[in-house]
Amino acid sequence: MRFTVAIDGPAAAGKGTISRAVAERFGLAHLDTGLLYRATGRRVMAGEDPVAAARALRPADLEADGLRSPEVAQAASRIAALPAVRAALVAFQRDFARREGGAVLDGRDIGTVICPRAEVKLFVTARADIRARRRFDELCAGGYEGAYEQVLADVEARDMRDRERADAPLRPARDAVAIDTSELDIEAAVARAVAEVDAALGRRGTPGTD
Ligand code: CDP
Ligand code: CDP
Repeated sequence: MRFTVAIDGPAAAGKGTISRAVAERFGLAHLDTGLLYRATGRRVMAGEDPVAAARALRPADLEADGLRSPEVAQAASRIAALPAVRAALVAFQRDFARREGGAVLDGRDIGTVICPRAEVKLFVTARADIRARRRFDELCAGGYEGAYEQVLADVEARDMRDRERADAPLRPARDAVAIDTSELDIEAAVARAVAEVDAALGRRGTPGTD
């Protein structure tokens, strides 16, 4: 079965949480494409050329320590504006999306650029202050000692850069279903996503029959 779920949205909206839950529920593989940009950004922070770093990425890079730090996130969003970096990462993402058994990919441009024909497209959002609070809580649980205001400023700067870049900007695909998680807990947000996947599977027949 080839079946792709594309989940896009701004920072800390709940994309990863929803993607993991959907992948588990439907037995799909999951790729957090933000890790590709974070891993590239991390190599650039260590002195590598951005395009060379993106081309040289290996699976082990996606497991490196520190990828979730705010500094790496900022570096990721800077190199993510470079068309040659994005181009170097396309094939890996498309191959992953087409794998037998189906896949969930989450990021910024999955429904618009990477998988424009995905069976399910979700655009997950939440108010910036709520997203920053969630990310702040998450970072604090990992030992972060910065201020909430700094996390909010980081999230907003990154969102602006992601929305305003010329190549593959953050925006909902025309056929994406919007899920605003501002007032939804994780269970409710996941239920909305699961309902969309169920509906799409229903439209195409029972999984595994083609
Ligand atoms: O992947 P993305 O950056 O969009 O967000 P995430 O890592 O899935 O979620 C960021 C944080 O928000 C996590 O700590 C989630 O547990 C939390 N979250 C939440 O509190 N309520 C939701 N409806 C979704 C996520
Ligand atoms: O988890 P969070 O939503 O905060 O960030 P992420 O998904 O790990 O993405 C980090 C950065 O990578 C984003 O701010 C984007 O600049 C970039 N990115 C992108 O340009 N395209 C993607 N498909 C995924 C991430």
